[in-house]
Amino acid sequence: MKYRVPVIPGDGIGPEIMAEGQKVLEAAAEKHGFELEWIMYPLGADHYLDTGELVGEDTLKELSAYKAIYLGSIGDPRLKPGVLEKGILLAMRFYFDQYVNLRPVKLLEGVWTPLKDKGPQDIDFVVVRENTEDFYIGIGGRAGSGKSHQDFEVIRSLYNVKFGLDAESDSEEIGYQIGMISKEGTTRVIKYAFDLAMSRRKHLSSVDKANVLSDIYGFWREEFEALATRYPEVVTDVNFVDAITMWFVKNPEWFDTLVAPNMFGDIITDLGAMIQGGLGLAPGANINPDGTSMFEPIHGSAPKYKGMNKVNPVATIWAGAMLLEHLGEKYAADDVIKAIELNLVEGKTKTYDLGGTSTTTEVGDDIARIVGGI
Ligand code: IPM
Ligand code: MN
Repeated sequence: MKYRVPVIPGDGIGPEIMAEGQKVLEAAAEKHGFELEWIMYPLGADHYLDTGELVGEDTLKELSAYKAIYLGSIGDPRLKPGVLEKGILLAMRFYFDQYVNLRPVKLLEGVWTPLKDKGPQDIDFVVVRENTEDFYIGIGGRAGSGKSHQDFEVIRSLYNVKFGLDAESDSEEIGYQIGMISKEGTTRVIKYAFDLAMSRRKHLSSVDKANVLSDIYGFWREEFEALATRYPEVVTDVNFVDAITMWFVKNPEWFDTLVAPNMFGDIITDLGAMIQGGLGLAPGANINPDGTSMFEPIHGSAPKYKGMNKVNPVATIWAGAMLLEHLGEKYAADDVIKAIELNLVEGKTKTYDLGGTSTTTEVGDDIARIVGGI
């Protein structure tokens, strides 16, 4: 069996971590008797600065022929924040309609957590982040300072009244962004989360802010509660996002599966990453169950470490395990996770974030060697 997998190393440390991810996946493939053929796509800052192209329609069409893409990291200080992130990463999540962003928060054996008296038995949950709606839809604008936005005149005049400004003047400036969720978009991701909870410890927690942003997240909560009636075996609870951040720190053992709207999911998974040992250990999968999915570490491109062979490749390797599982190679995926765990428990090769001095390559080599020998 041969799988063809597009690889986008991306910016900053992307190429370094991706090389280790590919190395470990190749070791798992060899052991389990399948082949991986990598199709390299040099998207990112250099490509954009050379050609003016972020990710073209032709490239997207081509990529949509594959089941799984392996992605490093996107972002470069030479460009304004958001140009590459929105133009490449979010563009792909939206184009492929990868409506599930799956982010396991699991403290592996041998890893230190900043949570006092908590261990691997306490920190083992998964966040299902909605990935195509909410405040990420890209509808917003700026008005004032000579710019104006027709749709916004009413709110702008309220603002003028509030601050006692002259409505005729254009010196005041406002920015606004619209968050939107749909019934279809909400139910499909919540259903995915319920099905996932059924395969785990049958406990699903929903995250919202229905007490304040009631039009958008009150709607989310209603859809969650309606679907809950169809899964009588799953124990559910609904939580405000601010409270969730507190419980993650105080009682992470309460959680099994969580489902969150896009922006809250973004925020709480960085917190999740910290309690599982840091961003260097946190993988993510952008999933369209019927289309093209994409697997990546949740951290960014860490430009200050670029080319130093210093950062932790584990998040990328773990994302690679998720990719293998998605392709149907569950045993190979399990071996990669086991090898990561053995590497961490042995603690012979550790990057700086885990208190060691090993290079990115040394950690990748060690995990690849363990995979071959399991
Ligand atoms: C993430 C990142 C992205 C997001 C950025 C880089 C667009 O923070 O994957 O969590 O906000 O989704
Ligand atoms: Mn994020």
